[in-house]
Order: sequence, then structure tokens, then C-alpha cells
Amino acid sequence: MNISLSSSPFSGLSSDNVLAVLCTKDTLSRDPAFSELDSAHGGVIKKTVEEEGFSAKWKKIHILRLSEPGPRLVILIGLDGSKLPYNQLLRQAGAIAADSGKSYGVKRLHIAILGELENNTSLRTATRLLAEGALLSAQKLFSLKSKQGSDKEIEEVVFMWPGQDTLVLEEAVRRARIISRGVGVARDLVNEPAGTLTPPALADRVAQLADDTLTVTIHGVDWLREKGMSGILGVGAGSSSEPRLIEAVYDPGDTKSKELLLVGKGITFDSGGLSLKPRDSMATMKCDMAGAASVAGLASIISDLEPGRRVRMLLAAAENMPDGSAIKIGDVLHMYGGKTVEVLNTDAEGRLVLADALSYGTEFDPEAVIDLATLTGASVVALGKSSAAVMGTSSELIRDVLSASDHAGECVWELPLIEHYRTMLESKIADLKNIGDRWGGAITAGLFLSEFTRDKPWAHIDIAGPAWMDKAQPAFPEGGTGFGVATLIEMLSPFAG
Ligand code: BES
Ligand code: ZN
Ligand code: ZN
Repeated sequence: MNISLSSSPFSGLSSDNVLAVLCTKDTLSRDPAFSELDSAHGGVIKKTVEEEGFSAKWKKIHILRLSEPGPRLVILIGLDGSKLPYNQLLRQAGAIAADSGKSYGVKRLHIAILGELENNTSLRTATRLLAEGALLSAQKLFSLKSKQGSDKEIEEVVFMWPGQDTLVLEEAVRRARIISRGVGVARDLVNEPAGTLTPPALADRVAQLADDTLTVTIHGVDWLREKGMSGILGVGAGSSSEPRLIEAVYDPGDTKSKELLLVGKGITFDSGGLSLKPRDSMATMKCDMAGAASVAGLASIISDLEPGRRVRMLLAAAENMPDGSAIKIGDVLHMYGGKTVEVLNTDAEGRLVLADALSYGTEFDPEAVIDLATLTGASVVALGKSSAAVMGTSSELIRDVLSASDHAGECVWELPLIEHYRTMLESKIADLKNIGDRWGGAITAGLFLSEFTRDKPWAHIDIAGPAWMDKAQPAFPEGGTGFGVATLIEMLSPFAG
């Protein structure tokens, strides 16, 4: 999809154009650019809207057919009463606008938002989020259908900012493209069935991303054994696909630069192991590598961000299956770094692979550590499907994650790491057990991980809710969403609004 910007008035559009207008009841009546179009039509547009009773409620769409001057079709899209934080609203609004054009078979769609932007949002930020939404909604999803449908695609979107200097907004479009590319990589990886996207296949895909600035090393089972990474080996033991620890290092070549460590949970399929999941919970468990996919999505575009510091990315990849060589309930694993873990539920496997990766990655003395994982159903119970949970040992880093997610238009809320819950992880025969009691499961999972972070500033993002959608939402397709990529990008290289 091509994206361009225009500063001309709406009445300057020709009759082969279609204009999608994001508006509230209020901005529809007051916006000067829209009023000018209305005046050019002798006030008939506003009169028609009034008569036909367009409420301008969030996601409501109303169609106006116009004679000259201006566009032949105006698609009014309501923004009133959405309740979403403004950046999330803009991202979704961009997606809804592009979707509406697509459903009318439009090839070239003009998009405008009426009135003043809220929360002091700059035109740059609004353009980035709207463009990102449009690009994300237009993404072709991973498909293995033998006959690919001939979808009506929008070829070009033109964002209209009447009377504004659009040259400074080019950078926003460039950023939106980078984000959407990274998110697309993550989505495709999540949507690919586990039958082909095994841990070695995931490693190959990441290796293909390597360029001059990115060094990818794939650690196989010999290396894992040599290092004593029983977490990763143990979880992968019941599978006929071998586990891998995938290490990708972005190096800007500045030796003094501090390192950021990013770790992703890469369970390519989570059957639960011997603590087998019930049928319905297993149905979407190819998504259990979404944390790793988001880190891979970031890796795929990291050189475009020029982040100016070293970034070490670790993807802990294993397939969690039950068979004769699988770990058994009550087994004790000797983790990398020396701690022992009693496995009382093989379905709490994410924390086992992450623990090895965190212990290993923190040896490189990173200044900050962030992990992404579809770690617990409990985080979905706590926060719902739309929000990820962040917790960690550094309030500063957590603040950075929350602020980055806000700028990125992704929904993240903090959960506390309640210290005294740590007692729930005490084991009779090992240093730790891998499950807590029935309640507070997102937090006990976080506490477990904290045991492997060598006291580095660390934040853990549980994306079990938003990583996968059973039903499409604006800017979130059905299936893998690529959640987290935008937040990571914003953390590494804040976009100046
Ligand atoms: N992969 C699951 C968590 C999950 C649940 C991800 C729903 C996406 C959607 C994880 O490995 C798991 O099974 N966690 C258990 C932990 C429990 C056994 C302590 C859970 O959440 O029930
Ligand atoms: Zn599990
Ligand atoms: Zn899992």
C-alpha cells in the first residue's frame, strides 16, 4: 500500500476520489475544512447528515454521495464515545478507515480526521498512528489456502491535512511502515502452524533476518547440554523436534554502548506436556511462541531504527509435548546458573525456558532486561484480552514500558510483584517449584522469572491475552496480532512527536 500526504482542501478532490472522514458529532459541525466543503455544496452535506441521523458514535459509518466539487463519496466514521486511550483510538481509527474503503472496493482512499487532536497529540504522532492502523489492517495474513482469494486491496491511502505543512509528516509515514513491517513478521510467525514452525524452523527464519548489523547464532542441543540449560532441554525433551536457543545481536559498532537484553518465549506448540491441556485450551497453542515472534519482528527492522546501543535478543524455542522421554511431574531440573527447580506442572513450561535464557543473557551485564511471553492464563483473567501485563524489579523500566506502550498505541497495565507470594514457590526438595497456589498465577510466574535475572533492572511483559485474537478487531486481525513489536520499537527508538 502506497501512502502519501496532501494539504489541499477537501473541495480540491476530484469526483473520482473517495474521502473517509473520522469525526465526532461536534467536529463534524465545526471543522473549518469540512465546513468549507459543505458551503461549496450550499450546506446540503450537514443538512443531509442531520436528516439521516448519523450519530457519529464510535465505529458507526455513514455514506454520503456527492456531486461536484469534491469527492464522489464521503465515508463518515464516528469517533464519539470510544473510551479508548487516544493513541489506541487513532491506531484503530486508521484501520477502520482503511477497512471501510476496502469494503467499498476503493483503490485510492483519502483519509482525514476532523477537528483538533486531543491530548496535545502532534500531527506527526497522529499521522504515524493512523498510517500504522491503515497498513496493519491491509496486511495480507498468512494463508495456506490452495486457492488464494483475490482480495480487493487498497493501493493508495492519502492522508489529508488541509492547510498543513505535510513535508514534516513524511517521517511519520516512514516510521509507520517500519512498525507495520516488524508486526507483519511477528504475525506470520505466530500464524504458521506448529507442524512446520518447529524450534529449528524458527531458528532458520530468524537466521534469514541477519544482515551486516545483526549476528544470529543458533545454539543446538549439544551447546545447551554443555551449558547445562536443563530448562530448555527439559521442556523440549518430549518432542521429536529439538529445542534451540536463538541468539541475535544487533551491534551499532560503538564499543562503549550499553546493552539491552530482550528475551522471548518461543514454545512453538504448548500441549501442556504430561500435564496435558484440555482440548479447547490447546486449540490456539501454536501462538505460544508469540513473545519470540515479537522479538523476531523487532530484529527484522532493528537496523532501520538505528538504536545506537547494543541489543541482545534471545529466543528460547522448544516444543512442549508428552512422550516417553518427556519430563515427569516431580522431576527436578538443574537450571543454567545453578538453581534447581521441581517441576510440578509441565504446563508451566514457559518460565523454565525463559529462566535459562534470562540467566544466560544477564551474564553479559545488560543495563536493562525485558522479556515477552504468552506466560499465563491468569494474566488474561486479571486484565482481559486487550491488555498485556507488565511487572518487574525496576520501577523506572516499568515506567518506560508503560510510556512506550502508550505512545505505541498498545494496551499494557502493571501488575505488582507481591514479594510475600514468593513463599508459594518454595519446594521441599529443590530451590524452587515451577507453580504457585491456585491464585495470583501471573504474579507467581513473574516472581519465578525474577529468580533468574541476576538483579538487573528487568521488566516482564505477559502477552497471553493480546498476542492472539479469536475475533478480529480494528488493527488486530484474527489470529496472531504481533502485539509488543510497536512497544519494543518505541522503547528502542522513541518517535519524536
Ligand atoms: N502458554 C500457556 C499460557 C497461555 C494461556 C497462553 C492462554 C495463551 C493463552 C502457559 O504455558 C500455561 O499453560 N500456563 C499455565 C500455568 C499454570 C500451569 C501454572 C496456565 O496459565 O494455566
Ligand atoms: Zn503451558
Ligand atoms: Zn506455554
